[in-house]
Amino acid sequence: MSVDNFSISANSITGESTLVYQDFARQVQKTKGIKIINFGIGQPDLPTFGKIRESAKKALDEGFTSYTSAYGIDELRQKIAEHLSNKYGKVKKEEVIITPGAKTALYLAFLMYINPGDEVLIFDPSFYSYAEVVKMLGGVPVYVKMKFNENTGFSLNLSEVESKLTKKTKMIVLNNPHNPTGMVFDPIEIEKLMQIAKERRIILLSDEIYDYFIYEGKMKSVLEDPDWRDYVIYVNGFSKTFSMTGWRLGYVVAKENVIRKMAALAANIYTCATSFAQKGALAAFDSFDKVKEMISLFRKRRDTMYEELKKIKWIQVYKSAGAFYMFPYVGEILRKSNLSVKDFSLKLIEEKGVTTIPGEVFPLDVGKEFVRLSFAVNENDIREGIKRMKEFIDMLMTP
Ligand SMILES: Cc1ncc(COP(=O)(O)O)c(C=O)c1O
Repeated sequence: MSVDNFSISANSITGESTLVYQDFARQVQKTKGIKIINFGIGQPDLPTFGKIRESAKKALDEGFTSYTSAYGIDELRQKIAEHLSNKYGKVKKEEVIITPGAKTALYLAFLMYINPGDEVLIFDPSFYSYAEVVKMLGGVPVYVKMKFNENTGFSLNLSEVESKLTKKTKMIVLNNPHNPTGMVFDPIEIEKLMQIAKERRIILLSDEIYDYFIYEGKMKSVLEDPDWRDYVIYVNGFSKTFSMTGWRLGYVVAKENVIRKMAALAANIYTCATSFAQKGALAAFDSFDKVKEMISLFRKRRDTMYEELKKIKWIQVYKSAGAFYMFPYVGEILRKSNLSVKDFSLKLIEEKGVTTIPGEVFPLDVGKEFVRLSFAVNENDIREGIKRMKEFIDMLMTP
């Protein structure tokens, strides 16, 4: 036995993530000295709001530095429950567990249900981590291809969902608003998906971490269904809405006995989320004025990015209704230039210092003709970055 003989779980990980492209950009910046325009970023570029920082500092100064309960501190669970109850429908404190980031919340959710061989329906494209964790646990990701239309964006493709259901289907993963496409899915589609999960007795894992990043239309939350306790595991977090990615705070909402079991797993994996970070998060609920300001700033940036991308005639772009990503179609450019989307992104970094994330990071096939650009970037950089991207594409398309 050597330290190089890894487990099936460790070997299941491809190592492909959005971080790879950011690392390559840093390398290019060092060797070429060009200013990098980073459209690869998956977090708001603003500092965490002041009240939250003050609240955490106070907790630190008052010595709130010990372990907390595996469920998280009661006040924060209560605030989350009240917040969701006001927004959607009754949620009790006992139905909430605080986790170190939404990623850990998702991990716990999969760990609770996946046995080797179980199938999990994952939309293609999707946030890369869902399929990786399913594979880590010996489960099988079953991809449901979404359909793209330049005017209406991507749709969930519910007939494809139904056709992929088997006796082994344990879970369906929904992410709304959606990373990487920027979709806020049609509430009717969401309702139908909920209906399928309920009727077929399949767990619906709903990641609603971008729920405040909505520029168009209305979002349907799975917590609006009074029967959610029968089939829903709901995940959210503080990272995006309050610009707190490094604080590592997320949460799960589920039926009380599910949360009790999750807390038992949590106690053996990470004990609890960071104590003073939780105290900081209490002030997040007094910071919605700041959230609102951030969203109107992001709406302007979205409009700018859309208008600039529209000037590149070889790409098709849908004006994102949510999250902070644009996901233009670049298939025609790839075919003409004989590049894979990965090479397209790498060459764009190398030649123009512009970081995008190739769609194939969001498995499996659909993303291979798209790139993801984040508009959590200031307006000048958006203009400059898309200008450089246009020059690069013009160069590729010139015979
Ligand atoms: C859809 C989605 N879910 C979950 C996460 C992870 O969030 P956290 O930083 O709270 O772990 C991200 C982060 O990029 C995401 O895009």
